[in-house]
Parts: sequence; C-alpha cells; structure tokens
Amino acid sequence: MVSTAIEFSNVCKKYKRSGNYVVDHVNLSIKEGEFITILGSSGSGKTTLLKMINRLYEPNEGIIKLFGEDIATVDPVKLRRRIGYVIQQVGLFPHMTIAQNIAIVPMLLKWKQSKIDSKVIDLLFLVGLDPQEYRNRYPSQLSGGQQQRIGLARALATDPKIMLLDEPFGAIDAINRVNLQNELLRIHGGLKKTFLLVTHDINEAFKLGTRVIIMNKGKVSQFDTPRNIVKNPADEFVSSLILSSREQERFWEGLD
Ligand SMILES: Nc1ncnc2c1ncn2[C@@H]1O[C@H](COP(=O)(O)OP(=O)(O)OP(=O)(O)O)[C@@H](O)[C@H]1O
Ligand SMILES: [Mg+2]
Repeated sequence: MVSTAIEFSNVCKKYKRSGNYVVDHVNLSIKEGEFITILGSSGSGKTTLLKMINRLYEPNEGIIKLFGEDIATVDPVKLRRRIGYVIQQVGLFPHMTIAQNIAIVPMLLKWKQSKIDSKVIDLLFLVGLDPQEYRNRYPSQLSGGQQQRIGLARALATDPKIMLLDEPFGAIDAINRVNLQNELLRIHGGLKKTFLLVTHDINEAFKLGTRVIIMNKGKVSQFDTPRNIVKNPADEFVSSLILSSREQERFWEGLD
C-alpha cells in the first residue's frame, strides 16, 4: 500500500498585517512518490504553503502531517533535515567550493569524510555535472543553471523522502529550463521521493506534475491530474488559466 506522505487538514495562515488568510482552509492528501506541482498567480500563497511544511512558517489553524506524524510535535531543525528544500535564489555559500556546498548538512551530521566524498561524486553525476571538473570550483565560476543543479544536489544530500522546490527554474533561460525539467523528471523517477514544486508556468506545472494543485487567493481551486483539470476545470479561475495557455499555443501555430 502506498503511504500518505503529506496531509493538510484545514490549514490556515494569516500574517500579522494581512487581513485575509493567505492560506485559507487547505485540505490535501499527497501520496508517497507523487510529483505534485503547485500553480497559481503571484501572492496566491504558494510559498507560504511550502514553508509551513518545513516549519519556516507556522499555521494559525489546522494540522500538517508527514507520514502520519503531526509536524508541530517535531523539532524544526530535525524536521528540516528530513526535507530537501530548493529555492529560486539557490543560496550557495560563495566562499565554499561546490563540494563543500553540497556537503554542508552531511558535515553537520559528522559523516565520515570518505562517505561525504563519494556522496558528492554521486550527486554531481546525478545532476549532470562532471565531478572532476566542478567539485573544486566556487559558485561564481558556474552558470545560473549549473548553480541551480548544485542547489538540487545539496537538497538531495541526506536522501530526504520529501523535496520542496520553490520556483527552482524561475531565473533560468528557456533552453536550460527545459533541460532541467527533464532532468528533474528523470531524478524523480529514479529516486521514489515525493516532490512538491511551485511554479507559475502552467506548461511546467502540467508537464512535471502527476497531479497539480491550483491555488487562487489562498484557496485550492483544484487538485487533480493535468488531464482531469483540462477536461473538467473546477471554476472560472482554472478555466481562464487553461484558456490563456491555449491562446499562446494558437499564437505559435499561427507562426508555422
Ligand atoms: N513574511 C510575510 N509577512 C507578511 N505577509 C507576507 C509574508 N510572506 C508573504 N506574505 C503575503 O502573503 C501572501 C502570499 O504570499 P506567498 O509568498 O505565499 O505567495 P506566492 O504565491 O508564493 O507568490 P509568488 O508567486 O509571487 O512567489 C502575499 O500577499 C504576501 O504579500
Ligand atoms: Mg512564492
């Protein structure tokens, strides 16, 4: 039986100065091994939703469970070591080499140096970078797309069961973006981890997601497979998203 990896029950979040809920009574159940994408316009609460999973933010109401365990009862630092987290800004340490950046948490956990070295090599291969060429470089000697790959490798270093990815390809050009999307699909397929990826690109959301969460003003408009969403949009907002994407398609067809 496939277990439930992440469960939200009536989760609400309101910031001190925000009048309305930015995450508004969200209920979700995500199975282990799913690749979930979260799609929504700017300010719809996507990042807030993600940050509540690793307790960078606390919900005002509701319960979040990981593999059946209420995360409010887990020490946040320990929790975060079990969850990989990749953000758009990558956040590599400039004065540390690529190998050192990837090995930050294994070092904190006092792994043996030989285990760290072989893990770094495995991870660099996994994200498509030659260890010989890259492990002793510094972040400034890498392109944006390569840095993003290092961010991904770092998040995978301790083999977390859950990976949170917040617009990881936001600042990357179209060609590299497609390459990275394909690599991410390959990595997800090989590792059997549960991925949650935030994007505001509908094509990316539908290409990567086994199921897609569509958020609008803090609420989940629809949570379903790409096919079902296209067949049966749940509301006006979802319909308009699909329509806008179709309009773009027609634009391209017109150029053929
Ligand atoms: N730390 C904070 N304090 C106060 N308000 C916040 C804070 N973080 C986010 N907000 C507000 O909460 C709402 C949701 O923000 P959030 O960052 O979750 O949106 P998002 O969907 O990730 O948007 P984007 O696509 O632009 O990244 C926004 O209105 C934002 O201004
Ligand atoms: Mg965001």
